[in-house]
Amino acid sequence: MCSVKNPTGLPIHHPEYRYALSRNPYAEKLKKGPGIVFSDNDTEAKQGQWKKRDGEKLHVEIGCNAGHVVVEWAARDAGDRFIGIDWKFKAIHRAFEKALKKNLENIHFLRGHADRLPYMFAKGEVDHLYLFFPDPWAKKSQLKNRFITESKLRMIHEVLAPGGTFQIKTDHPGYFAWMEDHIAKTAELWEITFRSTDLHAGNPAAHTLTFPDVTCFEKLFIKDGIAIHRIDLKKR
Ligand SMILES: C[S@@+](CC[C@H](N)C(=O)[O-])C[C@H]1O[C@@H](n2cnc3c(N)ncnc32)[C@H](O)[C@@H]1O
Repeated sequence: MCSVKNPTGLPIHHPEYRYALSRNPYAEKLKKGPGIVFSDNDTEAKQGQWKKRDGEKLHVEIGCNAGHVVVEWAARDAGDRFIGIDWKFKAIHRAFEKALKKNLENIHFLRGHADRLPYMFAKGEVDHLYLFFPDPWAKKSQLKNRFITESKLRMIHEVLAPGGTFQIKTDHPGYFAWMEDHIAKTAELWEITFRSTDLHAGNPAAHTLTFPDVTCFEKLFIKDGIAIHRIDLKKR
């Protein structure tokens, strides 16, 4: 991810980074989309202004895909605000269409890279952050692409509100061990409030769980008998 460059060669973490123009047909559709969807550097124009009402909590799902979970959360909890982020244009397009059908006013979608989190949100703005089944990048040559690293955990800690939470789920034991190593390197930042290496063990009805209690990928893993790993962190 760090190697993604803009047309002028700045790395994605640079404050002046500009997204490259995309020829993806859904890129144009998102630009003409309703005010709940933002793409590329427009995802950074509302930093610090996402919350609209006193007392509402901001929930952000990284890698929301077509919004199966975040849309249901928003429908279920009108008092809070929800944001889904994904870098796939078509997935975000499908997600906001779902939200429009449900007439939701408490949800937004950002088509962009999660590496830009500190530009999308102000320090302390996010109450609850979720990362469900990030790409495991399992080959040795791909490990550098993994989202969870010590520096990303520090970046995430900064956008979280005091006492804010970060929940991660993965099907990949190797990536889970990697995550725990990196969490240990930032141990002073977190209280671990929940940990499981087989989340649905002992639940014979796990295969009947549906959105938002499980994600799209999680349903498939449960069907295949693959153990789900989960860890919940609370900002110290
Ligand atoms: C394996 S899928 C999981 C989707 C969903 N969370 C679920 O559990 O069903 C990973 C998702 O993360 C998105 N993604 C991966 N890296 C990303 C990044 N750096 N920024 C934004 N989205 C990303 C992908 O496009 C994909 O939709």
